[in-house]
Amino acid sequence: MNHSATAAFDLKLDAFLQNAQPRQLAELSEWLRIPSVSTQSQHNEDVKRAADWLARKMTAIGLQNVEVIRAGGHPIVYGDWLHAAAAAPTVLIYGHYDVQPVDPLELWTSPPFEPSVRGEDLFARGASDDKGQLFAHVAAVEALLSTYGELPVNVKFLVEGEEEVGSRALTAYLPSETEKLAADVCLISDTHILAPDLPLIIYGLRGMWAGEITVRGPSQDLHSGMFGGAVHNPNQALCALLAQLHDSAGRITVPGFYDDVQALSAEERTALAQVPYDEEKLIQESGVPAAWGEDGFTVTERIGARPTLEINGIWGGFIGDGFKTVIPAEAHAKVSCRLVPDQQSSAVGPLIEQFLLQIAPPTVEVTVNTLQHAPATVVPLDVPEIKSAARAYTRVFGAEPVFSREGGSIPIATVVQEALGIPILFMGFGLPDDNLHAPNEKLHLPNFYRGIRVGIALMEELISS
Ligand code: BES
Ligand code: MN
Ligand code: MN
Repeated sequence: MNHSATAAFDLKLDAFLQNAQPRQLAELSEWLRIPSVSTQSQHNEDVKRAADWLARKMTAIGLQNVEVIRAGGHPIVYGDWLHAAAAAPTVLIYGHYDVQPVDPLELWTSPPFEPSVRGEDLFARGASDDKGQLFAHVAAVEALLSTYGELPVNVKFLVEGEEEVGSRALTAYLPSETEKLAADVCLISDTHILAPDLPLIIYGLRGMWAGEITVRGPSQDLHSGMFGGAVHNPNQALCALLAQLHDSAGRITVPGFYDDVQALSAEERTALAQVPYDEEKLIQESGVPAAWGEDGFTVTERIGARPTLEINGIWGGFIGDGFKTVIPAEAHAKVSCRLVPDQQSSAVGPLIEQFLLQIAPPTVEVTVNTLQHAPATVVPLDVPEIKSAARAYTRVFGAEPVFSREGGSIPIATVVQEALGIPILFMGFGLPDDNLHAPNEKLHLPNFYRGIRVGIALMEELISS
């Protein structure tokens, strides 16, 4: 068995990987056909089917102790292989098999749950986030077990069905099973790299606070001719309140919001300036006419290292066909913040509430309701496993990884760090234009196959870390 760290891939393994590609693609496609949308209860059975599918696959490739765990909410899938040499480390591979809703459906070129290959891309909901990326590691383990009958390291898979809705069940389960889940390092492929040949190790993810703002005016909807001009319209009051949450420099105005925000060191700013991402790329990827953001920060800093407050949805009053002269009784907004180290995620809701109550006019009643919160994640870069990760990426991509922070959130990451006390390797294979959460989500297939090889290379590199 050749697990020598610098050797190219063993011929036998290479042949296996070549031959396996069409089958692996077919298997991933089968999994992607199951509409495991975690936030829509009409898909609860599908979510369960997706968990069962993965458990069967895990068993088929030779993983042991495979379990579909019901810990409240959607199931967690576990499976392990723990027969590596005595000194070998254990890798906990985390991922999620739940996916986002597909609306607006009419904007999909091919149906979201009928995987379709066009050019070098596989289009389907979950292709990149996260079934495809997680499946790359299942395929990596399969390749090694089929070729050699063993792995260089111990492996534990932990795959949940609630990531897209805040990881409630796993957040409760994980700290109660620290012995079972004990590992030396956690590997998460649920992020993206910068370009097909430019790997990226992420050392920071933002946290989150999400909530709902309600503005109440009259006790019921009113005729705007009989009352208009004499009562405060809740839609108008809500818009005025929301408009005061940022100043003209793009800063959030909520008092205390920035109090605990860790300032960027000059050193880190210099390092982040090396990341090949800028306003031009942002405009191209997002389709906006111009960039926007907090004065004094680069695009990379705004996305990865600065907190935000977004208005995700606003509703109230009449929005159907035609028109209706009405003053609505209530107006609503869904708001969420991306948080950075060391912001207290649980403190954000009360800060926003206090501020809104303070600026709210006496003509309406305002309430703020927290839906979800999770702190930001930072990964230390000076652990040996980061070096293994960089070597694994370099071996497969032929290019050294860039290091950066990312703006998205993976709620379980800090729970893993705190409960298990291990570092996390965020090694993604997705691309910035994979259309996560949007119509036409895709996975770039060359990256999928490279992802499998990175998984293998990482297992090999970890024994020499
Ligand atoms: N995979 C993403 C997180 C991500 C995306 C990290 C892009 C880095 C770059 C994950 O599935 C996700 O969408 N998370 C949610 C979490 C939320 C619903 C609690 C998010 O970030 O909005
Ligand atoms: Mn994800
Ligand atoms: Mn997601």
